[in-house]
Amino acid sequence: MKIREKYIDFFVSKGHKQIPSSPVVPENDPSVLFNTAGMQPLIPYLMGEKHPYGTRLCDYQKCVRTNDLDEVGDKTHHTFFEMLGNWSLGDYFKEESIEYSFEFLTRILNIPVERLAVTVFEGDENIPRDDISANKWKSLGISEDKIAYLGKDDNFWIAGETGPCGSDTEIFYFRSSDTIPEKFDPEDDRWVEIWNNVFMEYYKKEDGTFTKLKNKNVDTGMGLERIVATLEGVDDNYKSSLWANIIKTIESVSNKKYDGNEISMRIIADHIRAAVFISADNSGIKPSNTDQGYILRRLIRRAIRHAKKLDIDISSNWDEKIALAVIDEYKKYYSELEINKQVVLDVLKLEKEKFNKTLEKGLREFEKMIRNISDNKLDKDLAFKLYDTYGFPVELTIELADEKGIQVDIEGFKEKFKAHQELSRTSSKGKFKGGLSGNSEIETKYHTATHLLNAALKKIVNKDIHQRGSNITSERLRFDFNCDHKLTDEEKKMTEDLVNKWIKDSLDVTRKEMSKEDAIKSGAECQFIEKYPNIVTVYSIGDVSKELCGGPHVKNTNELGHFKIVKEEASSSGVRRIKAIIEVGDKNE
Ligand code: ALA
Repeated sequence: MKIREKYIDFFVSKGHKQIPSSPVVPENDPSVLFNTAGMQPLIPYLMGEKHPYGTRLCDYQKCVRTNDLDEVGDKTHHTFFEMLGNWSLGDYFKEESIEYSFEFLTRILNIPVERLAVTVFEGDENIPRDDISANKWKSLGISEDKIAYLGKDDNFWIAGETGPCGSDTEIFYFRSSDTIPEKFDPEDDRWVEIWNNVFMEYYKKEDGTFTKLKNKNVDTGMGLERIVATLEGVDDNYKSSLWANIIKTIESVSNKKYDGNEISMRIIADHIRAAVFISADNSGIKPSNTDQGYILRRLIRRAIRHAKKLDIDISSNWDEKIALAVIDEYKKYYSELEINKQVVLDVLKLEKEKFNKTLEKGLREFEKMIRNISDNKLDKDLAFKLYDTYGFPVELTIELADEKGIQVDIEGFKEKFKAHQELSRTSSKGKFKGGLSGNSEIETKYHTATHLLNAALKKIVNKDIHQRGSNITSERLRFDFNCDHKLTDEEKKMTEDLVNKWIKDSLDVTRKEMSKEDAIKSGAECQFIEKYPNIVTVYSIGDVSKELCGGPHVKNTNELGHFKIVKEEASSSGVRRIKAIIEVGDKNE
């Protein structure tokens, strides 16, 4: 049996419920572009909300990390990866969590205890040393020599700047065939971190202070790629069984061996795999110049450039073959890959066709540019020209320049770019737009209709309904909300009628900027208040709706046309999804 299945079976046998992986694009957290850890979709529950599956959960979660995109090409970094995780939401805490991890590693994966070592939080002026964890490890047979006590930088975990957090204990495996040293040295890279158990009992606020969470939770994460490679005894993740078929396909389309071409092959393997998962996601991301779409574009274009480096005929269907190898490898676990297969292949094909048109010329232009520069610096105008005229994401230009020992004026480029267009911001601090970013006239109408729908559901179905996700296209709105039952026909009809009444009532939509505190006091609807900046925008619709939101909105509800619910279905456990349209009358055409 594979590690993934063994992991889930083990935790299910310990009373955990398996929860499905959330989409790679978070549906209810506008502060990040992608889920970067298994805990991300669980933040509301770590903060005390009741999870419909109970207090013991486990899963494998699709994650995308883009901070180290430039590192991809080495043996261990991946843009997309899977995280095995188990959680206790106010249920068991440190001792039981450590027992489970130890039992799984030594009894299920049969790792000899001598190969294991751990780090534990050494304590600071606010939080005492974690002797409970250390003592538990010792009672299980981990000697004092195999325990390292480290500070906040190493043994305190938080996703981003604010949020649920706590001290952790990290588990290391001795991967080398050398004699295992008596004393564990976390700096010795023969010891590889394989699992992180975080004891989440604090919440870090924007001002840097901590409060206690309602519950003491456990959040663990084990990177699947790493544990598979580690246990298979390879130090290059791409040489593990997980990647075997994908690498074989790249060898076949390039007619080259992996050994000797590792870097380009790893980049192609990693980037196409990530692009497949992002474009197969039900969030419907397409390559673009902002946000997730920009990441997708960068991934595909960088993969194409490396395919060219391997002398692959880039206008052939090499990318399709690799994508199909990825889909084959994972479809058993992620049904959307099979369902959205054609979407994925179309995304790749279209983006490839677009880029192929300019790539060749752009590369020639780049060569010409660097022949003419004198100080080993590519200035902002040249970098911008490569971006604007030839579609080179600046990171690609940086990579090309780097290979020639040339520096790019990145800051200058960014300024120029910003002036040209709002720059995609990928840091966890940066993105406050709220999941609704389109702003065509019809999308603006859907935006306002979404607020009305949210308000109507509260009145008709349950006052405790809140938004769990939202997505708008020019065709429809999609709204996810917490609800424990399928809406009855009557509820749907009454909700629809109420929204239409408000539209007929010609309610003014007003926009106000205020401090976050005042927004909360005014009772404005908002999930994840912590994620917003101190000054927020609140949109009110008559006196029926008040929400924190980045907009844009119509000025008056009478601009909307007839509102109609076209579908109501389950989204995930305890979450329902409504798709609705606005039937635009003549006056709006
Ligand atoms: N959330 C923790 C991590 O990602 C487990 O390492």
